[in-house]
Amino acid sequence: MIERQPARDRRLPILEIAPPAPSAGRTAAEPGDERLGEFRPEPRALPAFYVWTLGCQMNRSDSEEMSGRLLAAGATEAPTMEAADLVVINTCAIRELAEAKVIGRQGHLGRLKAANPSLRIVLTGCAVRERDREGLGRRYPAVDLFLRPDEEPELIDRLGLASAQGPVGAVGATTIVGRTVVGVADHLAATRSAAVAGGTVQRSSTVSAWLPIIYGCDKTCTYCIVPFSRGPERSRPFDEIVDEAQTLAAAGFREVTLLGQNVNSYGHDLPVESRFGHVRTARWAGRQLDLGSRPDLAELIRAIDGIRTADGAPAIPRLRFITSHPWDLSDRLIEALADCPSVCEALHLPVQSGDDDVLRRMGRQYTTEHYLERLAKIRAAVPGITISTDIIVGFCGETEAQFERTLRFLESVRYDQVFAAAYSERPGTPATHLPDDVQAAEKRRRLNALLALQEPIGLERNRAWLGRDVEVLVDTVARERSHDHDEPEAVGQEMAGEGSGPGGVRPGPGEVALSGRTRGNKLVHLAGPTDWLGRLVTVRVQHAGPYALRGKPRADGVAELHLGDLGRMASQPSVSDLGGRAPTGR
Ligand code: 5AD
Ligand code: SF4
Repeated sequence: MIERQPARDRRLPILEIAPPAPSAGRTAAEPGDERLGEFRPEPRALPAFYVWTLGCQMNRSDSEEMSGRLLAAGATEAPTMEAADLVVINTCAIRELAEAKVIGRQGHLGRLKAANPSLRIVLTGCAVRERDREGLGRRYPAVDLFLRPDEEPELIDRLGLASAQGPVGAVGATTIVGRTVVGVADHLAATRSAAVAGGTVQRSSTVSAWLPIIYGCDKTCTYCIVPFSRGPERSRPFDEIVDEAQTLAAAGFREVTLLGQNVNSYGHDLPVESRFGHVRTARWAGRQLDLGSRPDLAELIRAIDGIRTADGAPAIPRLRFITSHPWDLSDRLIEALADCPSVCEALHLPVQSGDDDVLRRMGRQYTTEHYLERLAKIRAAVPGITISTDIIVGFCGETEAQFERTLRFLESVRYDQVFAAAYSERPGTPATHLPDDVQAAEKRRRLNALLALQEPIGLERNRAWLGRDVEVLVDTVARERSHDHDEPEAVGQEMAGEGSGPGGVRPGPGEVALSGRTRGNKLVHLAGPTDWLGRLVTVRVQHAGPYALRGKPRADGVAELHLGDLGRMASQPSVSDLGGRAPTGR
């Protein structure tokens, strides 16, 4: 059943921002003539905001949009949560631990509110699910306003800041599909395009950009909260994505990552167009969806790869996409990966388990045989491609023998990187009807056993790069390890063995410890000047650990810098975070 809920019936209040402190915020420029006094606008509070983002790349991308809207509305960015009048928390709900992290900060946030009565807190992201709304106030007592992910474009209006910036693109109504409340079908695509056209996406890097292509998820994975928090799949119109890619290319971005919970099903919900008449791929298993005459991911990748510089090189040298579901990974996509020079030689292909019974209970809709067939085809088409995966251990009813099959599977596939986590029951998901019967200690044991098995495999995969030259897109000035473990730390970024600085790098005079990624998404530590940030540097690999490489830049191997101010990027955290997890599987 599809039912429209008018905007006026919504239960959430408009949030009042308290009047400004005398020195805080900005006021409108005042004309000198006294007689105009009565026409002057009331001084408005324009808060200093801080956005705390947890979880996946989609959340990071969403936060860039929210920050941009706040800045366009005249608000300023606060350097810390403590210095802010408005805290926006963009939550993840993929595992209980992710939610617990924010629940655990409620006391701290409450104390900040006591010290600063004008402080307001907005909570959005995947922890805000309609069926849960009653419990939200109880679990997050410091929060003033809850917004579902599809309500994020309304942030400004709901804060009462709309008058300061003009309409962002009203969204208003919601739709109920079954028991899930989601936004009106197309508004996320429309508000995204408006934000891109208005130049208000506050990109957190000037080198690498996120580019959302599909919102929501239609999959039936029984453990997963995403379909309940983000609703059904809605693809962005093809031309709007290509336009955004063109804007990014013109702005000098070197790397673009196409984002979606399942990018491989891109396009199936878009209107039929004769120009896509050659697209004839059907889905691989289960439900057959007619993709004929609609764009698919392969078509989109070819179009973005086709944006070229005057000398014919791809204008965006590195194109990535995440996340792929093995069920929808078509031959057309594999051919596009092989044909397009900008597509990086790296694929994240979550398998979740190496046992077919567990996969069936997980509702993954493929068998290990199907997965291995796809993988063989990809490896044949793109030799040397880096493959990473996600694994859940201790899923409902997972026996020791079934877990052992996952270990044997990892041994035979030999992944470059494995992101593993213990199963965490999520309220409202279909798996709540199955007994969560693997004890916590046993889940932990299996997780450790899996990571211990994978470590030498990762090392072996990385050793294959020793002595070779790799192209590194430098994106981080390495920091000394901090003791504030607020965000998961990628322990794998630390190199074992000799060397004193981060990553085992010993910077010389005028140098700092830097890091970046190869096209195959391998983390590489190197020493060099800070102005290498954002550049492509050729590095000779001299040391390989299980999670990272280290090498010496080649004297002639630093590409021209196309970019302006890189100051912002230097302060970005360096964690490469797939679903909020470090390679240690925490
Ligand atoms: N428990 C543990 N891990 C989960 N994931 C998704 N849902 C759960 C859950 N309930 C993992 C999957 C997915 C990744 C993003 O998070 O491995 O691929
Ligand atoms: Fe939401 Fe999933 Fe991203 Fe977590 S990983 S923020 S649950 S979409």
